[in-house]
Amino acid sequence: MGASGIGKSTLLHILGTLDRPDSGELRYSGKDVLQLDDIQLARFRNRTIGFVFQFHHLLPEFTALENAMMPALISGMEKRPAMEAAKAILVRVGLESRLEHRAGELSGGEQQRVALARALVMQPDILLADEPTGNLDRKNSDLIHALLMELNQEMGMALVVVTHNPALAALVSRRVTIMNGQLHELDEPATLATSLTI
Ligand SMILES: Nc1ncnc2c1ncn2[C@@H]1O[C@H](COP(=O)(O)OP(=O)(O)O)[C@@H](O)[C@H]1O
Ligand SMILES: [Mg+2]
Repeated sequence: MGASGIGKSTLLHILGTLDRPDSGELRYSGKDVLQLDDIQLARFRNRTIGFVFQFHHLLPEFTALENAMMPALISGMEKRPAMEAAKAILVRVGLESRLEHRAGELSGGEQQRVALARALVMQPDILLADEPTGNLDRKNSDLIHALLMELNQEMGMALVVVTHNPALAALVSRRVTIMNGQLHELDEPATLATSLTI
């Protein structure tokens, strides 16, 4: 969380290997991924990381199913298993009746659920979400928030979310902000709170 311009998106882009930092290391399970070349990095990203942005970035002329299966096709998966995987996750996010609809014909909330399905079709280890409900009304935001938390539990992926939404922030286990380019915990550790009361 944190004010606009503080570097939240930049941090997510670096974590997601979309941007390279000027200095420092980026390790996934001990592996320094900044050493990979662009092709290796694209492959790593495709298999390991899912992204959801404020705007869905779907291809409007393609169906929900086609949009959601795109990362699987890019990974080299055959069409049929890619379709099955995309269908399963679209059903899971409540879009069973929208599989063959073009993305451009769907509501904002439905589009963001397709984007979520696309991010999860490869069963990534980590899901990075940048203001995922910043463009949605309260009802659709609550639906996506609940889905994010449920899928985090079911699929066991790590979830890193940038949000201005206190309702979403309240659901996660750790809250941080950025000050002078450094991460700071937003919740006081219990030990500190105890020592203050004493
Ligand atoms: N650690 C950093 N070093 C250099 N530039 C940064 C850093 N963090 C953010 N910026 C720059 O600050 C601007 C706003 O950052 P951004 O990540 O979009 O902020 P936010 O998502 O919090 O609104 C961008 O131009 C970005 O390149
Ligand atoms: Mg941002």
